[in-house]
Amino acid sequence: MLKLGVNIDHVATLRQARQAEVPSPLLAAAECEAAGCWGITAHLREDRRHINDDDIAALVKQVRRLNMEMAVTDEMVEIASMRRPNSCCLVPEKRQELTTEGGLDAAGQFDRVARAVKVLQGNGIKVSLFIDAEPEQIRAASEAGSDYIELHTGRYSNAAPGEERRRELDKLIAGAELAHTLNLKVNAGHGIDYENIDDLLKVPYLCELNIGHSIIARAVFTGLRTAVKEMMDKMRPYVG
Ligand code: PXP
Repeated sequence: MLKLGVNIDHVATLRQARQAEVPSPLLAAAECEAAGCWGITAHLREDRRHINDDDIAALVKQVRRLNMEMAVTDEMVEIASMRRPNSCCLVPEKRQELTTEGGLDAAGQFDRVARAVKVLQGNGIKVSLFIDAEPEQIRAASEAGSDYIELHTGRYSNAAPGEERRRELDKLIAGAELAHTLNLKVNAGHGIDYENIDDLLKVPYLCELNIGHSIIARAVFTGLRTAVKEMMDKMRPYVG
């Protein structure tokens, strides 16, 4: 079964818009779990623009499975090692970006990535690398000893339906196949919505999708439980 990890960053974004107590990412996580999702994903950014250190500490205690997204920095590796989420997804991070824009350059900063993978795994944390579906990056993830890759679906999601999207889909399919031959488990995420998910289900070997923006946006109108359930309904036909 294809699993859903709900990214709750945008609940914290709304809270931070007023630097208030509400809406609570913890309550949001509980609602997502009540709807039946597999796990909760939260990105502790270096600038703490949405999720903060206290959120991570509380989420680790509360949720069934926490996937912590983080930059490959000593500070983040230290925090994750202390908090011990179930998994960490290593992402590139630039201060000015609205969201994570490209995949991690695991090949270009191999030593740093491999060191972080080792330290995190040594603390009992599964590690995933958020990378573009490029053979060089997938091989680097394998050589670095990562448990998972998370295929960056941003280009696919932004592509116009038709030829352009088909090309991006083919790259994701080839990437998943290569990762599978290298014994990497395959997740995917970024920009997935209730429409573009249908074709994405053609990508083989997927374990988990991490989805945030489209679910939180729909939840404004339907409530979080319904939005999560509707996404899980869309994922149900997946055959792998
Ligand atoms: N996966 C990763 C690694 C991300 O950085 C993000 C965005 O925070 C997501 C998944 C979720 O993307 P979206 O909010 O577009 O669904």
